[in-house]
Amino acid sequence: MVITIDGPAASGKSTVSRELANRLGWQWVSTGAFYRGLGYAALRLKMDISDVKALTELAHSSEWRVVMGANRTQVFFQNEEVTDDIGREDVGNIASKISHYPEVRKALLEAQRNCSAGPQGLVAEGRDCGTVVFPQAEAKIYLTASSEHRAARRAAELGLDQGETQEAQKQRDKQDSTRKAAPLQVPENAFVVDTTDMGLDEVVNKVESFVRTKLN
Ligand code: DC
Repeated sequence: MVITIDGPAASGKSTVSRELANRLGWQWVSTGAFYRGLGYAALRLKMDISDVKALTELAHSSEWRVVMGANRTQVFFQNEEVTDDIGREDVGNIASKISHYPEVRKALLEAQRNCSAGPQGLVAEGRDCGTVVFPQAEAKIYLTASSEHRAARRAAELGLDQGETQEAQKQRDKQDSTRKAAPLQVPENAFVVDTTDMGLDEVVNKVESFVRTKLN
């Protein structure tokens, strides 16, 4: 059983999906960790991030790996945990860039799908979870929020300037939604929630009741 939560950067996907998984007693994965982890590994190995062949090979290599956890989707590079580092904005940007290549997306697909192999259900969040990774998901959710609100959220989280964050985010949203391969889009039959004026609990409650009606 899989539930997907997609949406643009800083729309609240991670927090909401993690809390939902916690309430359901299911596993949780942030699929952005695969793109960030690969981007981070490429950075550390000083690879050319436009070398698709090398990126695809790196995607399948044991240089790095993603490990699911209840609170964080962890990333290890050469057996060292780098979960904090992959959260950086520069790594997010590289992730967004390499996510444009269909070959890279394909190379990461199987590992993402494997996250649903356990005995529990899985809540997966990202950009294409409901459309590409888990099109057969039991319930699909799409979270969104105003650009100002998302920038304020991310800036506060990372201690950055709000104006600059908003500009960078606009750029990334554009990259993510206009790319040819699996662009960010609202999955068919998705439950769309605009979280701009809502508190976290309110969003999770709303999403949880939608999910429970779908699971019954
Ligand atoms: O959700 P995030 O900020 O961790 O994602 C980082 C980048 O990874 C995002 O800008 C685009 C890419 N990504 C993707 O293309 N597909 C996903 N399912 C998740 C992330």
